[in-house]
Amino acid sequence: MSLLDAAREVREAAYAPYSNFKVGAAVRGASGAIYRGCNVENVAYPEGTCAEAGAIAAMVAAGETELVEVAVIAGSTEPVPPCGGCRQKLAEFGRGETPVLLATTAGGTLETTIGDLLPGRFDTSHMEGSKA
Ligand code: THU
Repeated sequence: MSLLDAAREVREAAYAPYSNFKVGAAVRGASGAIYRGCNVENVAYPEGTCAEAGAIAAMVAAGETELVEVAVIAGSTEPVPPCGGCRQKLAEFGRGETPVLLATTAGGTLETTIGDLLPGRFDTSHMEGSKA
């Protein structure tokens, strides 16, 4: 199964009664295994979690900390861009050149990379030499 098909499949499980905006995400770990996640909303809105966060959590829970490919799909008219927080989460486990495929359920796609989604990312180098 392709990474996009995995994201499309898990999107069906999304719990999005407040936004009615279902999102599915799939990441491929360095091992080749696919991990999926969907958005999970909450009546206390800020407690909701994004699809990308769920996929990353599944990957880490399985013992992997490196992702090599990402796919995200939603029922939007344009391929939905990951939110700022998810860009940082993806950057934690991927590389600048890691490919990200954004898609719509209608068949639209946009190919990008983690680096293009999050230029100037904060990383450990920014903490080097800091004085408490
Ligand atoms: N959402 C995601 O799951 N991923 C994204 O990349 C964008 C937004 C979810 C969060 C919320 O449940 C709904 O979409 C509307 O913002």
